[in-house]
Amino acid sequence: MEVGDMDRWRQKKNGFLALGLVLLVVAVTGAHAWKKDEFKRCDQTIFCREYRNLDIGSSKWYVSDVNLTNGKVRARLVNEDDGEAEHGGSLILHLSAYQDGIVRVKVKEADQKKKRFEVPDVIVKELEEKRLWIQRLIEKDGASMVVLSGHEVVLLHKPFQLYVRNGKETLLSLNAKGLFHFERQREKREGENWDDTFRSHTDTRPHGPQSIGFDVSFYGADFVYGLPERATGLTLKPTKGAEIVSEPYRLFNSDIFEYIYESPFGLYGAVPVMQSHGEKRTTGFFWLNAAEMVVDVLAKEKAEEGAAEEVSRVDTHWMAESGAFDAFFFIGPGPKDVIRQYTSVTGKSIMPQFFATAYHQCRWNYKDEADVFQVDAGFDEYDMPYDVLWLDIEHTDGKKYFTWDPVLFPNPKEMQDKIAAKGRKMVTIIDPHIKRDNNYYIHKEAQSKGYYIKNKHGADFDGWCWPGSSSYLDMLNPEVRSWWADKFSYSSYQGSTPNLYIWNDMNEPSVFNGPEATMERDNIHYGGVEHRDVHNAYGYYFHMASVEGLMKRGENNDRPFVLSRSFFAGTQKVGAIWTGDNNADWDHLRVSVPMLLTLGLTGITFAGADVGGFFGNPDAELLTRWYQLGAYYPFYRGHAHLDTKRREPWLFGEPYTSLIRESLHTRYALLPYFYTLFREANVNGLPLMRPLWMEYPSDKHSFAIDDEFLLGKDILVHGVYSEKAVSEEVYFPGSQPWFDVRTGASYSGGQTVQVPVTLDSIPVYQRAGSIIPRKDRFRRSSFQMENDPYTLVIALNGTYEARGELYIDDGKSFDFEKGAYIHRLFTFADGRLTSTNLAPGNKGTKEFTTSCLVERIILLGLKSKDLSSHRVLVESSGTQVSAEIGPSLLRKGYHQTNSLVVRMPKVRISDDWSIKVL
Ligand SMILES: *[C@@H]1O[C@H](CO)[C@@H](O)[C@H](O)[C@H]1NC(C)=O
Ligand SMILES: *[C@@H]1O[C@H](CO)[C@@H](O)[C@H](O)[C@H]1NC(C)=O
Repeated sequence: MEVGDMDRWRQKKNGFLALGLVLLVVAVTGAHAWKKDEFKRCDQTIFCREYRNLDIGSSKWYVSDVNLTNGKVRARLVNEDDGEAEHGGSLILHLSAYQDGIVRVKVKEADQKKKRFEVPDVIVKELEEKRLWIQRLIEKDGASMVVLSGHEVVLLHKPFQLYVRNGKETLLSLNAKGLFHFERQREKREGENWDDTFRSHTDTRPHGPQSIGFDVSFYGADFVYGLPERATGLTLKPTKGAEIVSEPYRLFNSDIFEYIYESPFGLYGAVPVMQSHGEKRTTGFFWLNAAEMVVDVLAKEKAEEGAAEEVSRVDTHWMAESGAFDAFFFIGPGPKDVIRQYTSVTGKSIMPQFFATAYHQCRWNYKDEADVFQVDAGFDEYDMPYDVLWLDIEHTDGKKYFTWDPVLFPNPKEMQDKIAAKGRKMVTIIDPHIKRDNNYYIHKEAQSKGYYIKNKHGADFDGWCWPGSSSYLDMLNPEVRSWWADKFSYSSYQGSTPNLYIWNDMNEPSVFNGPEATMERDNIHYGGVEHRDVHNAYGYYFHMASVEGLMKRGENNDRPFVLSRSFFAGTQKVGAIWTGDNNADWDHLRVSVPMLLTLGLTGITFAGADVGGFFGNPDAELLTRWYQLGAYYPFYRGHAHLDTKRREPWLFGEPYTSLIRESLHTRYALLPYFYTLFREANVNGLPLMRPLWMEYPSDKHSFAIDDEFLLGKDILVHGVYSEKAVSEEVYFPGSQPWFDVRTGASYSGGQTVQVPVTLDSIPVYQRAGSIIPRKDRFRRSSFQMENDPYTLVIALNGTYEARGELYIDDGKSFDFEKGAYIHRLFTFADGRLTSTNLAPGNKGTKEFTTSCLVERIILLGLKSKDLSSHRVLVESSGTQVSAEIGPSLLRKGYHQTNSLVVRMPKVRISDDWSIKVL
């Protein structure tokens, strides 16, 4: 049975794509239908089925007494169905508040039989310093009220309801619809059976039912967003209501094979956070719980005839199988405020090394060292830059991680050194399933130290994955993580060098023969925690342990780079993720945008989708379109399945090779802008890829747009998602124009335009009023661009002004945390470009300098009269330099008459200077 299961997986993973196009379509459709049965639907899930059938207002809980102690509010919740004698036990609600508009509510059983699992290492330590000391509790008319700065929390006693308000306006509520239910742990009743059987698997549920469900309403909201990861649009559509009933949004990390477009089923990662947005208000809600969770978005009720003015509101219903109730409310008021609030709880994005922001080349698998060298040489031969070459599972000796196949990769160190000679890096895959092979040192040590997750009988859990019989390290245990981290030292990981980085796959965890392709929920972790409680965070702990390994190994203060497939709330402070095993089809190209936008809303901005699509063979046009769009993903990697045709970017002939080269060049030219945005994410938590409403929050028209996005606030990108497209409908937000980055043509803001497209490019625009730093000289890798001069592209707005920033550091070490960075502000006003320092005066003990020059300044948005007499004076040095009218922006020879190019002003990027242009 078990072996059969694995064979089927193998077959699915490896087999069917060889069948040719017609058969392929049939096989894919078949696989979808067949595969769906492997995963539980709501009606096959006890808590989901029960909660979904509850009536509005069925909650029986009320507040019996409220106290204020240690600056926190404690309230007792009692269930009105509990008789005096057989008292089911009360609940204690803890209410606390933090600076900057964060309210936290915890609810626990007054007497916990078994301590509910509270997910560690997600909330940042610094949060506690931001806790507000609640001074006063106002009791009035059956309610208790806490007044904070600018908002208040009202706790209604009977029925129990909680409101976060802002003067007269309600922002958020808990249990306003009366769906709060809390299954208290209890003894098994006589004759009661707690077993839950799904297909051939039985979950013994030794601690019985312990689910939690409740409703949260978002007021002043038109839409809700969030809850990654699934392949759907950006807005979370209603799943339940008078007419609509679909599956709820499910958060249960799964190795979903061939994931389906437009399905509410969850994929590899889970972040239980939601953001709501309306014209005047953005709010957010986060439930820190790593058990299986489902969420319904309730359809809006039709306003009754003659009813008072309707308040726009979105009601949601949250349900989890087990775990703790620890929830955060974020009051906004704007989209960026909510992200800042959420990331001040769970952490800001890591600062990547510079190379990691460039292009990555991956395939399952680059066969051997000769193959690696050929691919590397191909990039040089075709004048295409790339930074990292990746090795998938076949590089190992029998799927034993930290080893090399002795025949295919006999000289891994020499191989990495050779690749590194051009400033490039390599990545190897390290997965969490450990081959149960007594000659494998990792297995022997892990087994003897008792580091594996245990099954319900207390023995090491044994499941099937790539190596066959495998066990899984208990990454919840900090000691195991620390031991694992030591395995990345150069002495332990034979054949590794400082130019080798890591990729974690299958960490949901994927178990081929387990229920829903993962492990049993009654498996046991460190501290007696059941797998059901930690499931959605397992991949996060594994990722964290691998990152700790790269931190430990580095003598050179090197920032780690580890890519993970699975993720949880907080992953942004650990590393990058990608959207898993997508398909080489147009729908998957299209859906990559809302998937990445959604991740960004939950703080996880260092993310990308596999360029080209993992399964299947993209034709040259699809591949080209994907490279063109991927150039604007925060993480840019080409990847392909074992059975696909080779697709290195020069294999498709002209014009495709040139077009893909141009996409890569576009990315490399924009690396200074990307890196500046990564720093912003690192400081403020803001994502690189932004939905339009994040920058234009009151523009109702933009709320549901997800086929275009903003990169930072200055670049607007619209992919091309269909074959042989001749035009795309582009919406230009705001009141200022947008400039086509290739032609300089301008479009006024606040309109939708049917823009003609050719195969040459996708629609991309620069915002009027912005200054974008670029490096336009093309090299083999980002490392070789280090000392290259900058180009500043200035797009003037209606008042002939513009503004932009540039962040630079050494691109590798943690010295930037000690002040070793440059942060410049460029402003254009009164015909003058000025460069000033943005970094604080005493930023730290380390310094960073660069002698890079500015080689070119491009001005867009001029009128012809401005161009009649142009004299350019570098005021800081007193020298006059030349300027030309209307030259090319990119290399393709587009000429715009409303642009001006200033050459070689001979100023350093890091200095203060001013240049009088007009
Ligand atoms: C509030 O304080 C009273 C008196 O100290 C105590 O009996 C009661 O249990 C407290 N309630 C809560 C919810 O802590
Ligand atoms: C033009 O850009 C500058 C700099 O960002 C800004 O201060 C100004 O308000 C903008 N003008 C208009 C009309 O948007």
